[in-house]
Amino acid sequence: MNILFVCLGNICRSPMAETIFNTLLAEKNLSKKYEIDSAGLDNYHEGELADPRMRRHAEQHGYHLTHRSRPVTHNDFDHFDLILGMDPANIRTLLNRATDINRHKIKLLGDFCLTKTVATIPDPYLGNDKDFEYVITVLEDACEGLLFKIESDSKHTGS
Ligand code: 4NP
Repeated sequence: MNILFVCLGNICRSPMAETIFNTLLAEKNLSKKYEIDSAGLDNYHEGELADPRMRRHAEQHGYHLTHRSRPVTHNDFDHFDLILGMDPANIRTLLNRATDINRHKIKLLGDFCLTKTVATIPDPYLGNDKDFEYVITVLEDACEGLLFKIESDSKHTGS
């Protein structure tokens, strides 16, 4: 299964989500079953590593961010089975760019949270240390819930 995490700049939330999800997969010996990537809805930061503040907070939680920002492409909508946006604005933009046959792949990542109720994984770009910490906490919860959901769905469908 191919999963794409999407945010606006692809330098804070989505590379963090990608790394958290990959870490969960490695812990559960599931890495071979999934292809994981992240991308941004704009290209302002194309080629850049994640924001230094995101990388610093990530390191404090044991995550190492190596992804370089790239914009979402037309091909992504075909290639990925699940495309996860961070907030309702991301979802609106993704739905506008997708074709009819691919729209069902677009989902709000916060809807997969296990212990939190969030409609938005807020953009920490203009925020402070607390905002970056919050992003990591919510993304850990959402990624755990997401993996639990797709693994239990795959057991039921046998895929
Ligand atoms: P992200 O955060 O979407 O979580 O990567 C942002 C990064 C950069 C900008 C906005 C949001 N920006 O406007 O440059």
